[in-house]
This record gives sequence, structure tokens and C-alpha cells, in this order.
Amino acid sequence: MTTRRLVLSRGAALVGAASTGLLLPQIARAQSDRIRVGLMLPYTGTFAQLGVAIENGVRMAIEEKGGKLGGRTIEWFKVDDESEPSKGVENAQRLVQRDKVDVLIGTVHSGVQMGIHRVARDSGVLNIIPNAGVHAATRALCAPNVFRTSFTNSQPTLALGKPMVDKGLKRAVWISWKYAAGEEAFEGFRDSFTKAGGTIVKELALPFPNVEFQALLTEIASLRPDAVACFFAGGGAAKFMRDYAAAGLKDRIPLWGSGFLTEGVLEAAGPAAEGVMTTMHYADSLDTKRNQEFRLAYAKAFRMQPDVYAVQGYDSGQLLAQGLAAVKGDISNKKALYQALENQTIDSPRGKWSMSKSHNPIQDFYLRQVENKDNKVVGIAARALADSGAGCRMA
Ligand code: PHB
Repeated sequence: MTTRRLVLSRGAALVGAASTGLLLPQIARAQSDRIRVGLMLPYTGTFAQLGVAIENGVRMAIEEKGGKLGGRTIEWFKVDDESEPSKGVENAQRLVQRDKVDVLIGTVHSGVQMGIHRVARDSGVLNIIPNAGVHAATRALCAPNVFRTSFTNSQPTLALGKPMVDKGLKRAVWISWKYAAGEEAFEGFRDSFTKAGGTIVKELALPFPNVEFQALLTEIASLRPDAVACFFAGGGAAKFMRDYAAAGLKDRIPLWGSGFLTEGVLEAAGPAAEGVMTTMHYADSLDTKRNQEFRLAYAKAFRMQPDVYAVQGYDSGQLLAQGLAAVKGDISNKKALYQALENQTIDSPRGKWSMSKSHNPIQDFYLRQVENKDNKVVGIAARALADSGAGCRMA
């Protein structure tokens, strides 16, 4: 009998029995055979396109593995977190308490992540972080049920300092948004740039998600550094590059950054992005069969080009599918599931990566330059870079 017919005939038997009023508990069990997946992502605001790319990636990976998780049909639940930290706990609770999700995939913004983290630690629900790099989640507040498929905020910028100094850029201004992601990205930049012999002339910041860059660009012009290094992402990153060029800085002071600066925004930034140098755990032009096939399939499915966020979503889907296959869909077998998730190697479009003991990817970082609206690989900035995981003690 085909699987479909088996399901249909079982369903018919259940309906028949239920009408006699005898088998309600079995119906309840039949319903809970579904696995409930919650997506908590930004679908509005400056990070909206990041949320969409992540969801696309998650769905594509699971679809490629037959559209089920550990043999179980998926029921999806979605919340727009708006990248709004003050609503983080409440939004996560909606998915965990109201929708009773088995797994929560989210989110993008580090401040919102801390809300999810509180709910994940209190409830024990499995959380896969497809972007937000906030250190605490895989350092001092690490948890057995929390796994990240992206990066820590200081990982990309730990790879940034040396290539800049190697190019003779020794005096730099740092600029970013004033919240965990910007501050922790600065830590990675400060450590790598000063260790390589560079000097940070000034650290500039503006509140998230403010994009009024003018006063700070005027200050950069008067400081005359060798280079500017930054963390921006999403809509704000495109605006920063356009304003940087419009202020006449593009050809005078080279612009560098963690690679989020040029992810998913190359159309919107236009010529202002050409030549910008970044470090990141992915690059459009990675010359591997795995990456080329992924890019083709993604473009065909979603009629848009994938970026690092799509890759991170895809790897979240892969991790979940592989972990649940290992426990044959029994998400209640937490010990075995977490062990399986820890032990997976992910065959990613970014290259193969594995999980650190604190549940964060150990991965390569590429040096990239924007050329013809593409993030072109120009070198390897760091190999198998792991976050320190400082202070992580798994319970
Ligand atoms: C973050 O808030 O952790 C964050 C947001 C967007 C990025 C990277 C990090 O591109």
C-alpha cells in the first residue's frame, strides 16, 4: 500500500471510531504526530528581508529532505518579532505556550534573542538560532537546548583586523549601531586589529535602527583615518553605503566591515557598494558544486538570489532534519536529540562545519570584495575559527 493510501485509510478508521465516541485519546495522539515548528523572525523593519531569506532557507532544506522531519508532518507557526527587543519574551511565549511548538527557530536581532533565550531556558523547548550572534547565548548563558547555526557577533570581525593591516591600513575608525551586535562586533575588530598592529582612532555609534549617518560621516571626514570598519546589516547597511559614497568618502577612505554590510543589499546599494571589503563565513562566488547547486535551486524556488541569511536558514533546516532523523522523529528523547545535534557535520553551501561544545559553528571565514554586485572571494581570512565559548558550562 502506498504511504498516502495508508494514511487515508488510517484516517478513515479513526473518524469512524471517533464517531462512536470511543477513541478520542487516539485522535489526540494522531494529531500530535505532527511536529510543531515555530518561526520567530523579523518580517517588518530594517531586518525584514533577513527574516524572509531565513524562512526560505529553512523550508528549502526540509523540502529537499522530503518535506517532513523524522518522518513527521510539519505544522508551521509564525510570529513577526519586528526586531523589537521589548516584545521578545512575549512573542516567544506566544509560540511556546499558546502554539505549543516543539522547536522554535529564531531570530535575527541579538536583543530579541535574549527574550527567546529566557523562554527557551525556562521552558526547555529546543531553540535553533539562525542568525543573532549575541555572545551570551553560547557563552555564559549557554544551554543544552539552544543551538546556533550562524556565528557569534565577534567571529566575523575577529577575521577582519589582520587583512586590513596587511593592506597597510593602520589607523581605523569603527562605526556601528549601539546594541549587542554592534558592540560585540567591535570587540572582535578591536582584538584582531590591535593584535595585528593597528590603532583604532575612534569608535562611533548610533542607536538601532537609526540611519541618520550624516553627522558621523562628517566626523569621519575630519578624522581622516586610513580606513573605516563597521557593522551594519539589512536596509540600514544599504543606506550607510549610499550615504558614505554620497559624502565623497568612498574613493578617499576604504570601507571595510563584517560581511553583513554587503549581504542581500547589493541591488539596493548599487555602485556605492562596489569595492567594499568584508569578512564573512559565506560568499556568493564560492566555487564549489554544493554552493552552485544551492544557489541555482534557491533562485529557481524563490525568484531571488540567496545570501548568507538564506544559507543560515538552510543550515538550520538541515540541522533539524538530520537531528530528528537520528532520533526517528522522537523529539521527546531530548538526550539523544541534543547529542545528535551536537555531533552533526553540516554540508553547507558555505563549506562543511561542525558544532562547538558551546553549540556555535566552527567555520572558515572568507575575505570578500564586492564586484559587479557579487560578493567575490579574494582570500581565506581565517580557517576553522571557533568562538571562545567563554563561561559556558552545559548543565
Ligand atoms: C544581530 O543582532 O545579532 C545581528 C543582526 C543582523 C546581522 C547580524 C547580527 O546581520
